[in-house]
Amino acid sequence: MRLGFIGTGEITTALVRGLQGQDHQILVSPRNADVAAMLAAEVPGLTVAPNPDVVTGSDVVFLCLLARTAWEVLPGLPFRADQTIISVMVDAPLSKLRAVCAPATDIAITIPLPPIAGGGCPLPVYPASSVLDTLYGARNLILPQPSEAALNAHLGASALCSPILDQLLTAIDWLAAHTGDAAQAEAYIAAMIRGYLPERAQQGELAAALKSLSTEGGLNATLRAAMAPAKDALRHGLDGFHARLGLTDTKGRT
Ligand SMILES: NC(=O)c1ccc[n+]([C@@H]2O[C@H](COP(=O)([O-])OP(=O)(O)OC[C@H]3O[C@@H](n4cnc5c(N)ncnc54)[C@H](OP(=O)(O)O)[C@@H]3O)[C@@H](O)[C@H]2O)c1
Repeated sequence: MRLGFIGTGEITTALVRGLQGQDHQILVSPRNADVAAMLAAEVPGLTVAPNPDVVTGSDVVFLCLLARTAWEVLPGLPFRADQTIISVMVDAPLSKLRAVCAPATDIAITIPLPPIAGGGCPLPVYPASSVLDTLYGARNLILPQPSEAALNAHLGASALCSPILDQLLTAIDWLAAHTGDAAQAEAYIAAMIRGYLPERAQQGELAAALKSLSTEGGLNATLRAAMAPAKDALRHGLDGFHARLGLTDTKGRT
């Protein structure tokens, strides 16, 4: 396939690395220049080209710009009706993408995260995209969504990574302060948490794991009780995305 990437930053780097082992012609735009040069040196079959040439030379165009840049850059590009467009941009609704990518109509939005470089990344997508399946389905968990609002809810939930990592770093810091070995503290916490996260959890595996860690008076239950206010803080923070992401929950709350 001929794949083009407009916007050559962190997420394009991860998406390109995630294609490792596949045989595609890849065009990336020249900004960021350092990242584009790094990818050209690293990936066989990858060429740096101006934005219009990326679009002209591609069957599939990934939109990987910051949204505020996208509305300036995309309207001038020569999209075609026979192309597939995959946007990974936050704050870029489908209606606006349809307007700026016309006459292309095969447009999907997905939410890759940097770990897609190594595979195992969840990829919610709306509408379903056979191209995304072909390119990333073998090594990642594709999750087609019934509506754009459902996809946007995943955008909100994706922000969970940062506060969770922050909590883990706090625990690592606490552990290292007692052992004097920061590297081992990090190795311990990361391996412990990984052990509780199955590759495919959708049958209540996480609730079962929590139940197994709930012995009354045990260390787990004691710490969980001490941290109970964090649950309300998490819900409050996620609810704060409602207006920005156009969300209404199943109880009708906007
Ligand atoms: N990173 C993530 O974890 C992640 C996850 C999901 C979705 N996203 C979304 O992906 C999009 C890109 O995020 P990112 O983290 O990859 O940001 P980024 O690293 O800042 O990449 C944006 C790229 O766009 C380039 N650019 C700016 N103006 C341009 C132009 N006129 N033509 C072509 N390229 C231009 C920038 O180049 P310069 O550096 O030269 O300005 C930069 O390389 C955003 O909409 C973000 O919301 C990111």
